[in-house]
Amino acid sequence: MNRSARSRRVPPADRRYATGSIGYSTREPMQPTEVAEPMKSFRIALYPGDGIGVEVLNEAVRVLGCVQEIVGGFELLYTQFDWGCAYAARHGHVTPADYLETLRPFDAIFLGAIGDPRCLPDPVTLVPLVQIRQRFDQYACLRPAKLYPGVRSPLRQPGAIDLLIVRENSEGEYAVCGGRVKTGRPEEIAIQSAVHTRAGVQRILRFAFASARTRRRRLTMITKSNALPYGMALWDAVLEEVCAEFPDVQAERQNADAAAMNLVRRPERFDVIVASNLFGDILSDLAGEITGGIGLAPSANVNPERVFPSMFEPVHGSAPDIAGKGIANPIAAILSGALMLEWLGLNEAAARVRRAVERALADGAATPDLGGSLTTGQMTDRVIQGLDDAGA
Ligand SMILES: NC(=O)c1ccc[n+]([C@@H]2O[C@H](COP(=O)([O-])OP(=O)(O)OC[C@H]3O[C@@H](n4cnc5c(N)ncnc54)[C@H](O)[C@@H]3O)[C@@H](O)[C@H]2O)c1
Repeated sequence: MNRSARSRRVPPADRRYATGSIGYSTREPMQPTEVAEPMKSFRIALYPGDGIGVEVLNEAVRVLGCVQEIVGGFELLYTQFDWGCAYAARHGHVTPADYLETLRPFDAIFLGAIGDPRCLPDPVTLVPLVQIRQRFDQYACLRPAKLYPGVRSPLRQPGAIDLLIVRENSEGEYAVCGGRVKTGRPEEIAIQSAVHTRAGVQRILRFAFASARTRRRRLTMITKSNALPYGMALWDAVLEEVCAEFPDVQAERQNADAAAMNLVRRPERFDVIVASNLFGDILSDLAGEITGGIGLAPSANVNPERVFPSMFEPVHGSAPDIAGKGIANPIAAILSGALMLEWLGLNEAAARVRRAVERALADGAATPDLGGSLTTGQMTDRVIQGLDDAGA
């Protein structure tokens, strides 16, 4: 194990949760049953990162510990890595050189947020984020956006928003392909190419269609093929082929500009949105905003073939402006934890966390970003209080 890893003792309200020397387990408080189900164990790499990433991840782990206790039958074994700006101050780089090899054996990576422009430039600190997604072929980025009862949307008549954005996460506009010549001169040229491959588009569309099958069976593919007639036209062609494999899913296309408008006008009409890297990025911020803001928005970067670990993280960054004040909203991280539970096949635990979040928000629990005055810890406590009653 890498030397920067250290065992984690979660600071729970109830110390029963802290048992092992690495991570915590529910073994101690479990009662023997007549036919014992084998305990499912999952190794989780905790990467809190910087700023509020550390604060919200700590709270999300507290919730996961409680739901583990309530549901039982599984244990999450954490190893925490202190990589980020503070690590760079000591070692000269934000992660050790072998960090990808270190992360490789884990079942999942749970990330807070990284970056702090006051300490290091973003292009330096954010490298691991991009490399983890790339190296572990986490080509599907999932960003659900749901307007929970009790949460105010900036829209006048928001309707029942409940959508999932599936963003292509490995190529497209964010493929590092291009260059600059004659830098700084009046005739400088910058070329930034998008890379769309048939295989890459096929796999993300198949993943999105399969996701739609678990929801309301509606898929909207976002392109801009009227203005980008090569790359985006490939998406159109592949959609025609792939939709034949999913005749039970209703599929349509929208241009990115129209989709932005429709997300404001009629967001309740969307179910699954699938888009290239750039469009998915932009539209998911919009979807996050109309459903209450970035403090509520979770995300998952998954490797659907499960050859590599997938990574779960709130959409937001490290928020240096509020870091250390204890007012960050932990819900995005908690819901990212629920996505991780679901990915690990722990559906009951995931559903329980979501229902507890829903209940807390409906009851008016709110941090300052939602117009309330709860601290990060108090908001988490409200979710934990609801876990017991949030059974199926
Ligand atoms: N995945 C990531 O790790 C990630 C994502 C985005 C930005 N970043 C990095 O984070 C740093 C700050 O970036 P930024 O300020 O542009 O974006 P940000 O998401 O950190 O913050 C934007 C605004 O939203 C608020 N905010 C964010 N999360 C919140 C929460 N949970 N509760 C309440 N308010 C919240 C912040 O206070 C700030 O006003 C930069 O270094 C950036 O590169 C990292």
